[in-house]
Amino acid sequence: MPDNVADLKALLVDEMEDMLHAENQLVKALPKMAKAAHSHELRQAFNDHLDKTRGHVDRLNQAFELLGARAKPKPCKGMQGLIAEGEESISEGKDLDPSCADLAAIIAAQKIEHYEVSGYGSLRALADRIGESRVARLLLDNEREEAQADARLTEISQPLFAKAA
Ligand SMILES: [Fe+2]
Ligand SMILES: [Fe+2]
Repeated sequence: MPDNVADLKALLVDEMEDMLHAENQLVKALPKMAKAAHSHELRQAFNDHLDKTRGHVDRLNQAFELLGARAKPKPCKGMQGLIAEGEESISEGKDLDPSCADLAAIIAAQKIEHYEVSGYGSLRALADRIGESRVARLLLDNEREEAQADARLTEISQPLFAKAA
């Protein structure tokens, strides 16, 4: 394997370790977000995404296996920050009307989904570039589900804006 491919593969594994930690954090955070949601639709969306998030962890584990690497999470400061922001939104939301509180939670959640979409997009491109097409496919499946979660949150926000206005 030429050196640059080995370096790119090491970079891919390193970045996947970061994503694994990010997803593991979300498995813990999403139930709290669901519990704090006022609208039934938003609670359902967070609970559904919790299931998907467990699937993202599974796909990452499969990708590590395909690369012959150990699935070793590496602290993801980006996601730690985004989740801390989300927790702040939840606690500040206690003083808001229910629709505004849900909108605040949606803003925080969409930042998280965008972070994941960009992470998986870059990783997928990297995997493609080094000829790891099965890994790229797994990463693409995660990326698509993150984008779907983002779109669903946009949909849920529409009636909430009408109610809050
Ligand atoms: Fe995810
Ligand atoms: Fe997500």
